Amino acid sequence: MNTKFLSGLTAVALAALLALPAPGRADGSKKDAPAADPDRRLALKLLPHERDLVLQEMRNFLTVLQTIMDALLRNDMATVAKAARTMGSGAANEIPPETVAKLPDNFKQMAGTVHMAFDTIALDAEALGDTNHTLGQLNGMLQTCNACHSTYQVHMVQPRRAAAPKKDGR
Ligand code: HEC
Repeated sequence: MNTKFLSGLTAVALAALLALPAPGRADGSKKDAPAADPDRRLALKLLPHERDLVLQEMRNFLTVLQTIMDALLRNDMATVAKAARTMGSGAANEIPPETVAKLPDNFKQMAGTVHMAFDTIALDAEALGDTNHTLGQLNGMLQTCNACHSTYQVHMVQPRRAAAPKKDGR
């Protein structure tokens, strides 16, 4: 019964697919149907919750950078260290292993470089208390942020089986 239902679904899905206009016809072009993405960066294909986690971590980077800048302006090196540590390699990594496994080595390396830079920034802020030194470290770290951003983008993909509609059928 279930199998029948499923194969019925498959047939419906196939029919729907076949009924779609051949991609690319609308504008007269034959190939490269989905409009070419002008963004040429490599696309990391992540599930919605994975993309969300990665982008959350990114926003945390930016938030912590702002906290650090603010503390630097006040020469408050204890706060610099504390904030930097929250993004260091010892900080609990919220990205689950199955997501990490989808990320290219180069991506993981650059992410690691940034986390370690935060470690060093924290240590040096405490040990040296030198604002300019910290600014130099931030400047260096931002180059890794930029390098990764110019290489990768995140695409959201849906889980494979999520397409089967559950509302009808029962
Ligand atoms: C290892 C790669 C990598 C590193 C390192 C990295 N990012 Fe990102 N970041 C990304 C990717 C990929 C995106 C998504 C870009 C896209 O899809 O257009 C992103 C997006 C972001 C966003 C947008 C978040 C959102 O909600 O859309 C911010 C802000 C950001 N990064 C800040 C930073 C900062 C600050 C640093 C350095 C401290 C940094 N990132 C380091 C890969 C990286």
